[in-house]
Amino acid sequence: MTDYDFSTRAIRTGQEFDPTTGSVIPPVYFTTTFVQDGIGGFRNGYEYARGGNPTRTSLETLLAGLEGGDRGFSFASGLAAEDTLLRAILAPGDHVLMGNDVYGGSHRLVSRAFIPWGISLSTVEMVDLDAVRAAIRPDATKVVWLETPSNPLMKITDIAAVAELAHAVGAIVVVDNTFASPYLQQPLSLGADVVVHSTTKYLGGHSDVLGGAVILNEGDLAEKVAFLQFGIGAVSGPMDAWLTIRGIKTLAVRMDRHSSNAQTIAEKLVGHAKLERVYYPGLPDHPGHELAATQMKSFGGMISVQLADGPTARRFAESMTLFQLAESLGGVESLVCYPAEMTHASVKGTSLEVPDSVVRLSVGIEGVDDLLGDVLGALDRV
Ligand SMILES: Cc1ncc(COP(=O)(O)O)c(C=O)c1O
Repeated sequence: MTDYDFSTRAIRTGQEFDPTTGSVIPPVYFTTTFVQDGIGGFRNGYEYARGGNPTRTSLETLLAGLEGGDRGFSFASGLAAEDTLLRAILAPGDHVLMGNDVYGGSHRLVSRAFIPWGISLSTVEMVDLDAVRAAIRPDATKVVWLETPSNPLMKITDIAAVAELAHAVGAIVVVDNTFASPYLQQPLSLGADVVVHSTTKYLGGHSDVLGGAVILNEGDLAEKVAFLQFGIGAVSGPMDAWLTIRGIKTLAVRMDRHSSNAQTIAEKLVGHAKLERVYYPGLPDHPGHELAATQMKSFGGMISVQLADGPTARRFAESMTLFQLAESLGGVESLVCYPAEMTHASVKGTSLEVPDSVVRLSVGIEGVDDLLGDVLGALDRV
């Protein structure tokens, strides 16, 4: 399918019709085990569902195709994917370098689960290449982990430039592409080694299924991830895989609408008397705007705003109506989040702490005038 447009691949890659019945939609394989034609006679390699299930294979083929990688692996959650990947790479004594604004749970995973096993972790302003160069430890850094746009301050990192610095010492560059989705940005083509996703967000797209993914090219690391996916077993179940496939079919049209709604809202909010700052890479004065324009197809559906202080920000987040106050992002419905006490509560007191005056908006695909009215009405009330 590689010659086809992204939208075509999102609908057709890995989605062959059922050869037995002609069913256009491949069935959901609710089975945990597979009959063997004699001992060891596996049909298409399927033996036991932790090792592989055709519905999961469909999703994994689709994920690899959309990110432009050879192999895709699907997991029960984004953090399960990250955990399996890190176990495949790291050994005691290794060092992980993360952006100082990665998802709080990714930082918590390394700091609480890996540090006790002899891994060291430091964080850096990933947009500052001199700082990255200085923070990489030539003898120990094995992973450089970044998000762009970042969560929630929407910083834009130069993936190719960081990859060059990391590769000079043999470190693996992992990009969490959850905010952009493969429709807007394909990090492997920019020099990253591995892409991870919380498919719970834009890929699933409807806030109804938890999942995660690792995508990379063939090689030793892919073999280790394949083994640990089976050996640890944090795999996605068939229904979760199927729901994620269904979501991905509309990824392109949803992302276009997320981006255009967010762009309109961000532009209207610039200069608002109640706002100190609007963080959106689609705004020409955003420090990463030009870089984002080269790395991304459009600027995505996430906006953060800074209000006068913490109490005002809390009131704003709590007084919206269409934007529902909830964790998570990337669904068709708009959500508002107060990072300091919600998504980023686990990094309070660390270098990843988010200012308590910041509110994050996940702009959905509802009517843009309705959404704008909700934001402006809530600003009037604070
Ligand atoms: C950018 C990012 N990466 C990873 C994760 C973790 O994914 P999950 O919640 O599916 O485990 C999240 C969850 O919010 C996220 O926002």
